[in-house]
Amino acid sequence: MQIIVCETPDEGADLVTREILRRLESKPDLVLGLATGSTPIGVYERLVRLHREKGVDFSRVRTFNLDEYIGLSAEHPQSYRFFMRRHLFDALNIPAANIHFPPTEGPELQRKCREYDEKIQAVGGIDIQILGIGSNGQIGFNEPTSSLRSGTRVKTLTEKTLRDNSRFYSSGETQPHLATTMGIGTILGAKRILLQAFGEKKADAIRAIVEGPISAFWPGSVLQLHPETTLFLDRASASRL
Ligand code: GLP
Repeated sequence: MQIIVCETPDEGADLVTREILRRLESKPDLVLGLATGSTPIGVYERLVRLHREKGVDFSRVRTFNLDEYIGLSAEHPQSYRFFMRRHLFDALNIPAANIHFPPTEGPELQRKCREYDEKIQAVGGIDIQILGIGSNGQIGFNEPTSSLRSGTRVKTLTEKTLRDNSRFYSSGETQPHLATTMGIGTILGAKRILLQAFGEKKADAIRAIVEGPISAFWPGSVLQLHPETTLFLDRASASRL
């Protein structure tokens, strides 16, 4: 695990974007693992700017998102498909056929989840996985006590995650309790992992995953086993190291 403490989240987003761009130049059909949440938005803004202002081409890029809620349509403003269109896909030239989300509908969900991992394998694996982290140490929706070698599967969200996310739902609106997420094993299969975490509310999780033992109670701690992971922090998220 390499740790870079940045002066600002913007500096972290600059560094992550620069690495993606460098890899894209040598591999135009780059396979990106993508995350949602507020943390990666800075990187997505920069990628959009590079495409608009510098003509950077994404037409051969393949993407695999980390997770998606079960029970929300792609048009629901809280769905991760909606989030990704709004923050990235609508503005880039990635063909729709190259964009992948974990399955959330229909029968045989378990088989479709397995096929999601197989699809990632079939394109040669994820070259760069963008990650954030939950304040409980979750990566994707791999909540505390998730199996450390899990593949893509359906997870029940914890009370804490539901509480953290309840602010996005109006009162009376049903909040999904289930999500499909890449497994911890799926994430560990990525060749390179770039995790960003900013702000004081991530400080406990960062301390646990960097200095604590590898433990299912802090799923991000498994990244200690990954040979090519870099954490981009700010002073606040790094304050308890
Ligand atoms: C969610 C997502 C994670 C994300 C985390 C942190 O629960 N499933 O992928 O990393 O929250 O979100 P944020 O970046 O908004 O702090």
